[in-house]
Amino acid sequence: MKLDFYYHNPTKIYFGKTALEHLPAELANYGDTVLLVYGKGSVKKSGLYDEITAVLQKAGKTVVELSGIKSNPTYTQMLEGARLVREHQVHLILAVGGGSVIDCAKGISLSAYCKGDPWERYWVNFEDVDNEIVPVGAVLTMAGTGSEMNGGSVITNEEKMLKNGRVYPPEVYPKFSILNPEYTYTVPKYQMVSGIFDTMSHLMEQYFSGTDDNTTDYLIEGVMRSLIHSARIALKNPEDYEARSNIMWCAAIGLNTVTGLAKEQDWEVHMIEHQLGAYTDCAHGAGLAAISIPYYKYISPYGLDKFVRFANNVWEIPTDTMTKEDAANAGIEKLTAFIEELGLPQTLRELGATEAMLPLIANSTVQGGGYKHMTADDILNVLKACY
Ligand code: NZQ
Ligand code: ZN
Repeated sequence: MKLDFYYHNPTKIYFGKTALEHLPAELANYGDTVLLVYGKGSVKKSGLYDEITAVLQKAGKTVVELSGIKSNPTYTQMLEGARLVREHQVHLILAVGGGSVIDCAKGISLSAYCKGDPWERYWVNFEDVDNEIVPVGAVLTMAGTGSEMNGGSVITNEEKMLKNGRVYPPEVYPKFSILNPEYTYTVPKYQMVSGIFDTMSHLMEQYFSGTDDNTTDYLIEGVMRSLIHSARIALKNPEDYEARSNIMWCAAIGLNTVTGLAKEQDWEVHMIEHQLGAYTDCAHGAGLAAISIPYYKYISPYGLDKFVRFANNVWEIPTDTMTKEDAANAGIEKLTAFIEELGLPQTLRELGATEAMLPLIANSTVQGGGYKHMTADDILNVLKACY
């Protein structure tokens, strides 16, 4: 562990079939008024909305609602939530949903009392949060983003055509998250596999960087293997509790910062996807799947040893008799086959992108990288390769 790090994860996790039983005790820690934030209707269909509102009622809470949070939550919706928090003097924001709902809740929590324009201050200029942060609690219904156990809040500013994300400090993390894998049984298959690939991508983006011997890399390899194994089971039987619970926990660990400790990290695939999402509104994990193969083919020559290790340790490919290039490519081919198994798209066209969008996406993507620094031209090359 050559790089210094600071680690503090304050989110309490209640995991399993009985996790919701802990909600009343958590609610008792906060004042009377709760802003209940949820998506476009899945929680009503599943019955979870009724369960949670009953708990809130029993706890004597006054409930204000913000519903209809879109996948890829918008700045407009976030500002509406911030307004509700101020108007009703909300004490706790309870997010019930996937990453979009939780991200939106975190955005509301830190924007409600922001002095100035929160977008410019926090999502563009990355200023320190210097105002009151309203506590957030989460009930997770879909696995993938890791938002339930981190400080991430990715918001789409429709007017500016920007999808910006930021990892906020521990004060912004959910205070508690309720993770019952059974809630994910009703997630449509396309969203389930998008979430699985989102987690895989988080793990890869933390893995493919650096040349040191870091415990974190061994941890990531183990989580990737568990995720791939359980994904295959869940594809066959979406109601396999053990597989869905493994996937849920892989997602949380995959971005709760443990799998990034002392790592340089390369988030360029996410940076490109966020702008792809701003233009097409595609499902986040599906966008990542389409970009990943051409991206990793593009950068693997600059980090060959790590790609050989990926082939060996994650995909169990015996590479002794291969050249490093062939071994690296063999690992990437296994990843391609996994994307096919999941049934995720491999072209941007399938996600609604047009050729005219490609330079716009390339030019508006935050430049970065790991083994290779990616310029706008490099990003355009990657986009053309998966168009
Ligand atoms: O809106 P509802 O009706 O709830 O339906 C949702 C939505 O249509 C549905 N769904 C969720 N749980 C369900 C369910 N349907 C049936 N049964 C259930 N139990 O699934 C759809 C997708 O939900 P969404 O929350 O949008 O998906 P996800 O969890 O993938 O979140 C995506 C957002 O998170 C951001 C992404 O960019 C994207 O905006 N990310 C957040 C991160 C973070 N906070 O750290 C990191 C990620 O890399 C990512 O960028
Ligand atoms: Zn992601």
